Amino acid sequence: MYKIIDGKAVSAKVKEEVRLEVEKLIESGIKPGLAVVIVGDDSASRVYVNNKKKDCAEVGIISEEYALPAETTQEELLNLVETLNNRNDINGILVQLPLPKHLDEKAVIEAISPIKDVDAFHASNVGKIMIGDYVFLPCTPAGVMEMLKSENIEICGKNCVVIGRSNIVGKPMAMLLLHQNGTVTICHSRTKDLKAVCLSADILVAAVGIPKFVKADMVKEGAVVVDVGMDRDENGKLCGDVDFAEVADKTSFITPVPGGVGPMTRAMLMKNTLMAAKIQNNII
Ligand code: GUN
Repeated sequence: MYKIIDGKAVSAKVKEEVRLEVEKLIESGIKPGLAVVIVGDDSASRVYVNNKKKDCAEVGIISEEYALPAETTQEELLNLVETLNNRNDINGILVQLPLPKHLDEKAVIEAISPIKDVDAFHASNVGKIMIGDYVFLPCTPAGVMEMLKSENIEICGKNCVVIGRSNIVGKPMAMLLLHQNGTVTICHSRTKDLKAVCLSADILVAAVGIPKFVKADMVKEGAVVVDVGMDRDENGKLCGDVDFAEVADKTSFITPVPGGVGPMTRAMLMKNTLMAAKIQNNII
């Protein structure tokens, strides 16, 4: 019998902890602030940004949205980032990705002050994650770790397989599991015999972006399966990278979509913004 790791419940707990700390900060005269920048009219990005603003309101963080038109130039965007870097009342800066094609995402990320980079995408923060000396953890991998912790799932010595090698999820996910002494393998589109590698996993993290990609014959009996996917099935319904209906019975723990990793990512963003406010006010 498997157990579902309830991302909504775990994220509510994280957010409540953040809310209490924010309350204390506000009492001491510090109001944490997050700037969220969205360029163009990508509908998924719009939903994500609205959710982030909702989370801020819930935990007491001030959010400012900058919704820029799709034709925004690189210079205009960089100027906005610079202005936000210089504002003391803005502790975190998040530029929602993807950006329209004519904009240079990498240059924009690098323009964000590393101490305000609550996504932990800046090369300086990525480097810190590599050496295990981090300030901000990338929100999705950190959320996954929090979910595993909530069920006391041991990582030390376990075979951990991450499917997907993105900078946002796959690579930092592998690193966090490695820091907890997991034996980590990263799989990708060129991996030979992906099924065999996945079958070796005690902990399998799917972050490929392909609906229902992970099937029952890829999962070891009793494995922990974490689904980072936010995909649409053939009927346009939200689903994950894991075929939950056929995989769940083989697992010991599994995360659902929706209600799994998604809410955790959002909660960890709140935690990072709180952390940014504390650092910038010399509280840590
Ligand atoms: N687009 C999809 N996920 C993310 C995220 O975590 N942060 C940002 N900035 N953009 C995203």
